[in-house]
Amino acid sequence: AFTPRVFSGIQPTNHLQLGNYLGAVKRFVDMQNSGIETLYCIVDLHAITVWQDPADLTRATRELAAGYLASGLDPAKSILFNQARVPEHVQLAWVFNCVARMGWLNRMTQFKDKAGKNREAASVGLFTYPSLMAADILAYHATKVPVGEDQKQHLELTRDIAIKFNNDYGVDFFPVTEPVIEGVATRVMSLRDGSKKMSKSDPSDMSRINLTDDADTIAKKFRKAKTDPEPLPETLDGLADRPEARNLVNIYAALGDSTADAVIAEFGGRSFSDFKPRLADLAVEKLSPLSSEMSRLMQDPAEIDRVLEGGAERARAIAAPILKRTYEIVGM
Ligand code: ADP
Ligand code: NA
Repeated sequence: AFTPRVFSGIQPTNHLQLGNYLGAVKRFVDMQNSGIETLYCIVDLHAITVWQDPADLTRATRELAAGYLASGLDPAKSILFNQARVPEHVQLAWVFNCVARMGWLNRMTQFKDKAGKNREAASVGLFTYPSLMAADILAYHATKVPVGEDQKQHLELTRDIAIKFNNDYGVDFFPVTEPVIEGVATRVMSLRDGSKKMSKSDPSDMSRINLTDDADTIAKKFRKAKTDPEPLPETLDGLADRPEARNLVNIYAALGDSTADAVIAEFGGRSFSDFKPRLADLAVEKLSPLSSEMSRLMQDPAEIDRVLEGGAERARAIAAPILKRTYEIVGM
């Protein structure tokens, strides 16, 4: 049996958005405070699968660390670090590139979405991203990974890699990791298109709430959020084929640590012109303490760098012996 251990990561691109916060970071904090060992990474090596301006990457790395800290992740309780500082991730990813099959990676929908029509022009890194993600997780023998719905397929691939490695070498070395995809906010949708998830890499800034947005911007984005003309339904069933309405109800529920049922009980029958300002108020109430703490932390980048360096050292202490043992199993 493997000791329970949690790993997860977020890419340092643009700004943290509401879906990252509700679907991932808030869950990271819950798991940290449940007493289980937790590692939370800033996955810069994943970010560069798509070209990043170097200065922006450095800024986004510190800003994401500030977002982690402002949200309640505590370097005394969790290992907080950036991926590039722990070379074992890449070293293990090579082994996993040799375990994973082309056919497995060919089925990954995120690659198809991100590469778009011109697959020939996508980076090789974008294609092999899921092997690196498996290495991120398995370098720590992590047993649980809190993520949003969009990462489900990559988590399944991580499990397939662990199982195939164990089979190929006749060992029981890597755990078969459980994804933890729970709550009302596992897939927060774009405010402009109810069929797309909210993402920090969406070209339209109006599609998402950034944690760095001020109160007026948040109010404006919710006011302009796409909806249908009907009032909110009286029962939850009435949201079934209304993705935009359902999304706003779910966001309200997640922000208030409540349920969609409770939100419908309160707002059923009311119009969006009534509901949207209430949603904006709740978002501002919950997010503005985070954004002001983030700006405060960003004034001392050297301190943020120190936190990440300390985390990387602790992360390496776990990953190095696991990598060494992996190489021995393989015969190297
Ligand atoms: P993004 O797509 O915004 O660039 P990442 O790929 O860095 O985000 O994902 C970071 C974490 O946030 C992952 O656990 C991912 O599943 C989660 N996540 C991203 N977008 C959403 C969303 N719209 N709703 C819920 N969780 C999300
Ligand atoms: Na993503």
